[in-house]
Amino acid sequence: MSGQVEIFEVGPRDGLQNEKREIPVAEKIALVDCLSRAGFSRIEVASFVSPKWVPQMAGSAEVLAGIARKPGVRYAALTPNMRGYDDARAAGADEIAIFASASEGFSKANINATIAESIERFKPILKAARHIDLPVRGYISCVTDCPFDGPTPPEQVAELADILFSQGCYEISLGDTIGRATPDKIARMLMAVRNRVPVGRLAGHYHDTAGHAIANIDASLSLGVRVFDAAVGGLGGCPYAPGASGNVATERVAAHLERLGYDTGLDLDVLNEAAAMAKAMRVAA
Ligand code: HMG
Ligand code: MG
Repeated sequence: MSGQVEIFEVGPRDGLQNEKREIPVAEKIALVDCLSRAGFSRIEVASFVSPKWVPQMAGSAEVLAGIARKPGVRYAALTPNMRGYDDARAAGADEIAIFASASEGFSKANINATIAESIERFKPILKAARHIDLPVRGYISCVTDCPFDGPTPPEQVAELADILFSQGCYEISLGDTIGRATPDKIARMLMAVRNRVPVGRLAGHYHDTAGHAIANIDASLSLGVRVFDAAVGGLGGCPYAPGASGNVATERVAAHLERLGYDTGLDLDVLNEAAAMAKAMRVAA
């Protein structure tokens, strides 16, 4: 197999948001700087959510202010509402992400809104971002299974993906939030979503709780997906998804893709250095 596959590094956000120890901003900055050297085009480094909900992300503005920005790299931030959008802009995020859920149970638990309410909440963010050409990524959580509602019907994911894409998200990241998906479930979900959103605008965001993430990436590759989110060192989880463990480890995904013959553009030695840093941050916890 050949061609390019991009890994979108989410470790400094999705990875660290779940760590119990209050990680000093300097440690986060050092990790991001190492990741910048590893060759990523997009790194999610911040989250402008309520610090009452996710205390670990409270230093996000300081992280964005302190990193050594590498030209050509986009540094991304989560924004749940207009307050988060304004803070992300003020901190200099190069792109932002809104995050919805395909299941009602997780939507309520994670952002205290129904799916319909969250779509309304995102509209002003999309409008403001469009005004200044700021790229907005759209996450959809619980694309195959929800910790509260059980299995998610693929058509429900497709419908939400269609809404977020048609409202201006440039890419839709499909989250197996609790890492319980299997390749056949991922394939059924992707076939439904592909009917509504071009496959070139989809990304796979797979947590690795049950150890299926690499197989789920393979299933997605065979259906045309060429962007995958991963967290260096396998850090992470979601504080509002019981049982969710880390994202699939970036260094494993990169090695796997290279073995299959894909080009990730990453320097695997520097990536391994970042993985060691990430793991040490967790050990210190
Ligand atoms: P709420 O309690 O319904 O709303 O939270 P609120 O408006 O009443 O706000 C509560 C407090 O937060 C208020 O402060 C607000 O001012 C403040 P108080 O008056 O009590 O002192 N507040 C904020 N502070 C800072 N920045 C803001 C902000 N907004 C309000 N932007 C809200 C609603 C959306 C804010 C809350 O539910 C929240 O922050 N949720 C975020 C949860 C989260 O970050 N989850 C993890 C990320 S999602 C994820 O990991 C999944 C993903 O990886 C994909 C996958 O794996 O599936 C993306
Ligand atoms: Mg996630």
